[in-house]
This record gives sequence, C-alpha cells and structure tokens, in this order.
Amino acid sequence: MSPLSITRTLPADATAAALRADVTRGLTSTPKQLPPKWFYDARGSELFEEITRLPEYYPTRAEREILLTRADHIAAATGARTLVELGSGSSDKTRHLLGALSELHTYVPVDVSESALAAAGEALLTEHPGLTVHALVADFQRGLTLPDSPGPRLLAFLGGTVGNLLPEERSAFLRSVHDMLSPGDALLLGTDLVKDEATLVAAYDDERGVTAEFNKNVLHVINRELGGDFDPDDFDHVAVWNAEREWIEMRLRARKELTAKIPGVDLAVPFAAGEELRTEISAKFREDGVRAELAAAGLELTQWWTDSAERFALSLSVRG
Ligand code: SAH
Ligand code: AVI
Repeated sequence: MSPLSITRTLPADATAAALRADVTRGLTSTPKQLPPKWFYDARGSELFEEITRLPEYYPTRAEREILLTRADHIAAATGARTLVELGSGSSDKTRHLLGALSELHTYVPVDVSESALAAAGEALLTEHPGLTVHALVADFQRGLTLPDSPGPRLLAFLGGTVGNLLPEERSAFLRSVHDMLSPGDALLLGTDLVKDEATLVAAYDDERGVTAEFNKNVLHVINRELGGDFDPDDFDHVAVWNAEREWIEMRLRARKELTAKIPGVDLAVPFAAGEELRTEISAKFREDGVRAELAAAGLELTQWWTDSAERFALSLSVRG
C-alpha cells in the first residue's frame, strides 16, 4: 500500500442525502438552524485556515502553545503507535505531536473535507516519509470504522471542535469515542475555555470580516449543491455570547424579507426581515464540566493543561 491512502467511508450520494436532510429539517424548523459541518467545502476549509491566523482568533495559538510545551509528555504518557485525529483539517498543529511521538507507525486523519485531507496528507508525508497516513473522508458523528493499525492508539480531537456539537450530540459523540478506545488507548481533547464576553465575541466577529465570509459560505454550499438562490449579501453575520449556555452562537440575519428557493430539496424558504438562521454554536468549557462530561461517557480525565493565559485547555483521558 502507498504510504498515503484516502478512503471515502461516505459515498458522495450519502453526503448529498445528508445535506438534503439537514437543509430540509433545519430550514423548516423554528428557529431556523443548520449543522456547522456544511461550512467545510474547499473554500470553507481555506477560510477556516485564514481565521486561525487572525489576531482576534486566539484558540489556535493557545492550543499550539500547549502542544509545544506538552507534546513530549503526551508521547511518554501514551506511547502511541497510531494517532487518529478527528476533524483534522490542515493537520497543522498536529505536526508538534507527530514530531514527539517517536513510536508512531500510522496517522489516521479523519475529516469531511477531502480537499483538506489531501493537502495535509501530502505535506505530512514530505516531512515524515516513513509514516503510514491513512486518511478517512468521514463524518465523526456517524460511527467510524478505523483501519487496522498497531496500538496503543491516541485519539486526538483538537481545536475545540467538540464545542461545535450540541450538548446531546456531544454526549453521544463522547460515548462513541469511549467505544473506540481499547485499554491502553487515550483521548487528547482540546476545549476552549469560558472567558470575558468581549474577547469571545471578537474571536467570532473579526475586524476583517473573514469569519463573516466563513459563516456565509454555507449559503454558497447550498446554492452550489442544491441549486439554491441565496444572495449572501442579503444576510448579516451575527456572533453572540449566550451566557446561560456558555456558548457563542453564529447566526445569519436576513436584512430584508425574502424567500430563498432551493430546488434540490423542493423548498421555498421564507425569511422575515431580521429573522436569524443559527449556523454554529461554539461552546466554551470549565475544567469541572469537561471532567463530568467525560465521566458520563465512561472516560476518566487524567491530565489537564492550559496555555499560559488560561484561554484554552488540552486534556488527556482514558477509559474509566
Ligand atoms: N483540527 C483543526 C481543524 C478544526 S476546523 C484545528 O484544530 O485547527 C474543524 C474541522 O472539522 C474541519 O476541517 C471540518 O471539515 C471538520 N469537521 C466538522 N464537522 C465534521 C464532522 N461531522 N465529521 C468530520 N469532520 C468534521
Ligand atoms: C472548528 N471550530 C472549533 C471553530 C470554533 O472556534 O468554534 C469554528 C469557527 N467558527 C467560527 N470561527 C471558527
């Protein structure tokens, strides 16, 4: 087998059917909502990478700082021979782990974005020619079948992407992570932390408008894939802090009354002027909450590290 293989676990028609189901359900419910995974076509993945370089978007830099200082400890604690990374995107920060995991045999990046996986896989093999990279185009919420590879396994879920799942999705997801781990395996989880509202809102409503463009990308995806006639200029990007739920909500607010036609799902979707469509939540966490959610899924948190400014945390867990 070539050192880089890309497996599509989701046939293209299953992805199309999932998009149709999510658009139909989400745009006919009140309030309107869409799951954030549909941001990430090739353009959406590029825009996310641009977001990670914005001065306001601190999570990537904070998590990188933790990885840089803790990678050796993570390597020693896990002795991982296989690294599975969920929602791996560009795998950029993962480099710090790959460099430290001296026993590593196989890297399994998992993402819905095939373009991100292909670019990341090629780049990593140049840096780590001996590594087997088995990329999976898959939805990590739909039950994964991992390729055969030597243990112990380290399952990494970085960036705070776990916060993009709704609470009930999160508990089901963590349960599925528990079921994927064998004794001796570990979970490395990145979680963004609760902090002051101004810092949080700025991170999701940047000066240059890159996050606004990322948010509106979901309308381009619906237009391209389902023949929709959304005009992204008819919507404003909105980022608000929900203090009760402790999450940021990204929304698209209609600037005027309009009806969007989406022939691919046979829908005409009316928006009142000012009506909002929720496109993402980004939950922020506290140590006790993370520990409790992991415990409820049968996982035991063994290490908790933050960056020096205590903005972001990485935790290591094992099956309880
Ligand atoms: N881990 C990287 C990228 C985070 S962006 C980092 O920390 O910078 C979130 C990534 O998760 C994107 O690449 C997106 O395509 C992927 N993603 C989002 N929802 C997904 C899902 N349900 N299944 C698989 N990948 C998903
Ligand atoms: C991928 N995920 C953790 C990002 C976040 O911060 O919730 C997605 C994002 N949305 C807007 N900016 C970045």
